[in-house]
Amino acid sequence: MINQLIVRTETFDDFEAVFNINHIAFGQDGEAKLVEALRKNLAVFIPKLSIVATLNDEVVGHILFTKITIKSDTRTSYESIALAPMAVKPEFQKSGIGGQLITKGLEEARDLGFQSVIVLGHEHYYPKFGFEPAVRWNIKAPFEVPVNAFMAIELVADGLKDVSGTVIYPKEFDGV
Ligand SMILES: CC(C)(COP(=O)(O)OP(=O)(O)OC[C@H]1O[C@@H](n2cnc3c(N)ncnc32)[C@H](O)[C@@H]1OP(=O)(O)O)[C@@H](O)C(=O)NCCC(=O)NCCS
Repeated sequence: MINQLIVRTETFDDFEAVFNINHIAFGQDGEAKLVEALRKNLAVFIPKLSIVATLNDEVVGHILFTKITIKSDTRTSYESIALAPMAVKPEFQKSGIGGQLITKGLEEARDLGFQSVIVLGHEHYYPKFGFEPAVRWNIKAPFEVPVNAFMAIELVADGLKDVSGTVIYPKEFDGV
């Protein structure tokens, strides 16, 4: 059988598989429940940016981007989105599926008019897609993190020009 990988927006029928992939990839259900909670928060959930990868019609990966705020010291608020969580079924990891989810997500986000993306993650992985340490723009996490693990990308030229401050995540992220 030809292995056909498709990367597309999730539908209602994918919800159960998305829960299971997050559960198994993270080895706990915190992220799986986080995805379910974020879907219900219509202020931050962007349906087109909950994306699945399917291989021969089986869901094997998922990525989510939700709205966040970057709040400056002068209390100016800027809208951005955060990439989190992302999961690929363990037996399909390290074959580029995560990379395809990221690439598709960044393209869709740009098409939707978002100017930047924030991610907390592996400092050697996300730079492959153009992410750089967010400290470059003086953008900080709301908690202690290794400085190079907290990253951002401009989706358009100067997408983060004059943006700085602390990222405020939706409350659903608390405790995950
Ligand atoms: C992170 C993850 C989604 C990557 O998916 P993938 O399909 O294996 O990704 P790719 O095949 O595109 O790339 C594999 C790369 O992932 C890197 N990677 C990214 N995040 C990683 C992490 N948190 N832990 C370990 N490796 C990670 C590996 O270093 C590997 O790099 P290499 O190709 O240089 O060896 C997958 O490993 C996974 O589901 N992990 C468990 C859940 C998780 O940690 N999610 C990320 C935090 S939200």
